Amino acid sequence: MAKVKMTVGDFKKFKKEGKRFSFVTAYDYTTATIVDESDCNIILVGDSLGMIMLGYKGTESVTMDDMVHHIRPVVKGAPNTWIIGDMPFGSYITPEIAVANAVRLIKETNCDCVKLEGGVEMLPQIKAIVGAGINVMGHIGLTPQTASSLGGFKVQGGTPESAAKLIKDAIELEKAGCFSIVLECVPSGVGKAVSEAVEIPILGIGAGPHVDCQVLVTQDLLGMYGDFKPKFVKQFAQVRQVMIEGLNEFHKETLEGTFPSPEFSFNKQVDIPKLY
Ligand code: KIV
Repeated sequence: MAKVKMTVGDFKKFKKEGKRFSFVTAYDYTTATIVDESDCNIILVGDSLGMIMLGYKGTESVTMDDMVHHIRPVVKGAPNTWIIGDMPFGSYITPEIAVANAVRLIKETNCDCVKLEGGVEMLPQIKAIVGAGINVMGHIGLTPQTASSLGGFKVQGGTPESAAKLIKDAIELEKAGCFSIVLECVPSGVGKAVSEAVEIPILGIGAGPHVDCQVLVTQDLLGMYGDFKPKFVKQFAQVRQVMIEGLNEFHKETLEGTFPSPEFSFNKQVDIPKLY
């Protein structure tokens, strides 16, 4: 059956019906076409492209121009998949800047919503973007753009106080108009509690099995990215190895002279004039 693109209303509806869904990343046209052909429901063009596509150590250097450049081909390649455009570090430091950049992402890429990181401290920005008529996805727990202020890439919500803060963040983000929230890197019990506290779906990455949707970076779950593997990443395939084997096979046949065989050559006989 052909895939049907989710609508913003489906997010809350799926949660109410207890229907789970899945969400992965893409940063380019080819990957977007593959995800679009798969059963996965959502694509995030995340600022994780800083590491995965651009080779940076973190996400802080990713710019609005980078985001626009990568979201556009994904939107072209995945017409049947809900697409999130991530707002990069520094692009939503005030409500005015946030609205201008969110409008730019939607206008220049045609993605379906924007995502930004932060809890109650981001309420003015979230309200302003929602007020401009743009769907906003929140992101709480481990927020990579400000990971250094959280003590590094660590599990969040590990104390009663910090777990309570996450629950409060989720409740306030829902009230401010977020239609869903990414919850990253928290103990499973905290994931469950946050999910139970709100009517919008909680999209978990390293947040245990009791949330409404699971998120992973495509290059992580397919075993393509080789720099590091967080504990919460399950590799569902070993695509990196398959790619290396394919490349080595091409190299071997090139050296042997067995590629290209007639099947991969233009075989029309031509009378070549003798010029040398
Ligand atoms: O940029 C990204 O890939 C993300 C995920 C970790 C949810 O924000």
